[in-house]
Amino acid sequence: MNKLIKKIVNKKNKSKIICLTAYSKNIASEVDKHADITLVGDSLASVLYNYSTTRKVTLDNMISHAKSVRLGIKRSLMVVDMPYNTYKTNSQTLKNAKRIVKETKCDAVKLEGGKEIINQINFLIKNRIPVMGHLGILPQTVKGKFKSKGKTTKEKKKLINDAILLQKSGVFSIVLECVKTSTANEITNKLQIPTIGIGSSIHCDGQVLVTDDLIGLNDTKIKFVKRFINIKKYLNMGLRRFALEVKSKKYPQKKHSY
Ligand code: KIV
Repeated sequence: MNKLIKKIVNKKNKSKIICLTAYSKNIASEVDKHADITLVGDSLASVLYNYSTTRKVTLDNMISHAKSVRLGIKRSLMVVDMPYNTYKTNSQTLKNAKRIVKETKCDAVKLEGGKEIINQINFLIKNRIPVMGHLGILPQTVKGKFKSKGKTTKEKKKLINDAILLQKSGVFSIVLECVKTSTANEITNKLQIPTIGIGSSIHCDGQVLVTDDLIGLNDTKIKFVKRFINIKKYLNMGLRRFALEVKSKKYPQKKHSY
């Protein structure tokens, strides 16, 4: 097992796991100082491209962003989302995952779903591609409004069964997206591998957020997002200063000129 993956799995019941998204080098190099896992998420669909769904993201999109992210990472585990429609059969899944790993030098891939895609996950792991699971809200397959999961007995049962199935297949951790607190707690307690929550309560072994959301670069009103800093304020201070100095001919000075 990859050393970084081992370290993350060993954190279970010891210290919380930090996971953050990055879509390019400069953000990745800052994220890397704080995160155990840097995730190149297909959330870049809405954050960067204003797409209404992650279904529009292509394999080439993910690879291109992930290549840039790789340049910023020195210490964290790098995980890349496999986009919609790229893991329909075993052979397609392996071919695409191999391409992602080869071209981006990432450590693992993430796929959305449980029982429905367990054959593909088994196949990847058998072929030595590390996999992170993703249960709860599955943005690639949601139809209509996003609704939290694990509230009804049926949903809860399915989530628990899926989580156990994913663990058996050998995934090293599972993202739980918008799963009811008590269900996320039960899943986390039942598993030996860590759960990484997003809108799924304090009980998860770690937390993930979209970096652009938590730094206030992306405007969102999603319930689980907390804005830890308003980076736009600082960005605007710098940009305003540049504009003022250009207009007042204070910049560039001799030392900035050839
Ligand atoms: O695409 C993404 O960024 C994700 C996280 C929000 C878990 O899957």
